[in-house]
Amino acid sequence: MTWYKIPDFQFTGKPFIKKVKVNSKGICLVGYEGDIYALSSTCPHAGGELSGGWCRNGKLICPIHRYSYDIHTGKGDPGQNDFIDTYPVEIREDGVYIGMTSFFERFKQAFK
Ligand code: FES
Repeated sequence: MTWYKIPDFQFTGKPFIKKVKVNSKGICLVGYEGDIYALSSTCPHAGGELSGGWCRNGKLICPIHRYSYDIHTGKGDPGQNDFIDTYPVEIREDGVYIGMTSFFERFKQAFK
């Protein structure tokens, strides 16, 4: 896994939703109840931009058709039969980092 620092970002502990680009991927960062969650920013239903949505009861809600996804697991609500990718987050002294595993790293692990 490779850790990428989010540029120009400081966590204040306040709630937020923000799109960032990390390793050429669009990531939806969610500040919720004092923690930060990193999720894919594209809704799997019809491509809505999840960073334009809102968070309620631990779920990120898409602004287009209001599908919702658990910010801890990425799992869609029952009946949606979908999910969004989640990424580990570390808050370090020098900033906030997101962990990503490349396709090559996953491939190597699968054939160990
Ligand atoms: S595009 Fe997100 S719910 Fe339809």
